[in-house]
Amino acid sequence: MTGSDLFDIVVVGGGPVGLSTGWQAAARGRRTLVLDRHGFFNERCGTSGAERHWRLQYTQEDLFRLTLEALPRWRRLESLAERTLIHEIGSLWFGDVDVETNEGQIAETMRVMDRLDVRYEALTARDIERRFGFARLPGHYAGFLQPGGGTIDVRGTLAALYGLAQQEGCLLRGGERVLGLEPDADGVTVRTDRQTYRCAKVVLANGAEVNSLLTPLGRGLDIKLYEMALVSLRRRDQAVDFPFWFVFQQPTEEDTNLFYGFGRNPWSPSELVRLGPVFEVDPIAGADHTTGEPDPRHVTRLSTWVGNHLPALDPEPVRTSTCLAVLPGDLRRQFYLGLATDLVPDGGNIVLYSSGWGFKFVPLLGEVCVDLALHGSTEHDISRLAPTATQEAAR
Ligand code: BEZ
Repeated sequence: MTGSDLFDIVVVGGGPVGLSTGWQAAARGRRTLVLDRHGFFNERCGTSGAERHWRLQYTQEDLFRLTLEALPRWRRLESLAERTLIHEIGSLWFGDVDVETNEGQIAETMRVMDRLDVRYEALTARDIERRFGFARLPGHYAGFLQPGGGTIDVRGTLAALYGLAQQEGCLLRGGERVLGLEPDADGVTVRTDRQTYRCAKVVLANGAEVNSLLTPLGRGLDIKLYEMALVSLRRRDQAVDFPFWFVFQQPTEEDTNLFYGFGRNPWSPSELVRLGPVFEVDPIAGADHTTGEPDPRHVTRLSTWVGNHLPALDPEPVRTSTCLAVLPGDLRRQFYLGLATDLVPDGGNIVLYSSGWGFKFVPLLGEVCVDLALHGSTEHDISRLAPTATQEAAR
């Protein structure tokens, strides 16, 4: 092995977290390589679509504190990239305030915002109808607008991270697939379809494919994959605008009954807006099992809800697509972040990030992955996110 094949950190997966890690590791003076099997800027995993929800609020105070810690890091990224990445069009949560969902609970979230002194505006169903064009909401629905929330420019973020990683001297190799890892007491050997590298630490940020590298070494992560529907609808009235919105409802027998939608996209104006259900039902067997075709029942459920409650939109889909959600088996964890110590022998040399609804944390996640790679610990409270294994026996 030559000097050019030796790295301090090899990052597997060049999505938002992989690029954020590559940038920040190189900025801390470490020889860093980021590998992406499919090539950079692909939309094969959770990064499909132009925008993501930016929100401060979480029902769980530890996660809420992480978004507060992420915010100044986003501001720094924006300033380095000379580009707005978070567009504060507001984040509107409404519905049944007591229903407990995998995305949180409205009433408790308002209490946490009070405790953490985060401003919001409490709203009744009638306020939400009058202000944002919703209609026929059940009278007991209520919620809040958090004005600092909104949407994140996904492609702008990826371009910024890629450019900064390059600028800091991080090596970025697309179209190179990692076939296997061999961790030992001193580091990790990384075998790809082109060559072999040696490094002190590996960061796995390869989303749905994380278990293809972990399971052969011991135990994989307890993750489930869902192909969720996305629908583009036409605004009937171009003057009507929305914040990002999420409606919390009692589950039905078939699904979680949760829907969300983006407002007008401020950096790429269009008469279309994107909406989706969050139905954690019918997990798929692997990333290769995605079809790009949403379950028609889920599209109908969304269109019917819109037809009943959002007259400003034409409920007939103009376009449909899907996104791959990679979520922990125990949804309360949100995602995994930590060392693979309990999963594989010499796993202390492997940092894991997978996957959840994590885009809002991207600059912070990169920093934490580098902290873990360099020091084995971080000052941020990530205890909830500790990796847990599938029930499969260790080999
Ligand atoms: C989120 O804010 O985490 C989120 C938004 C829409 C769908 C799923 C998750």
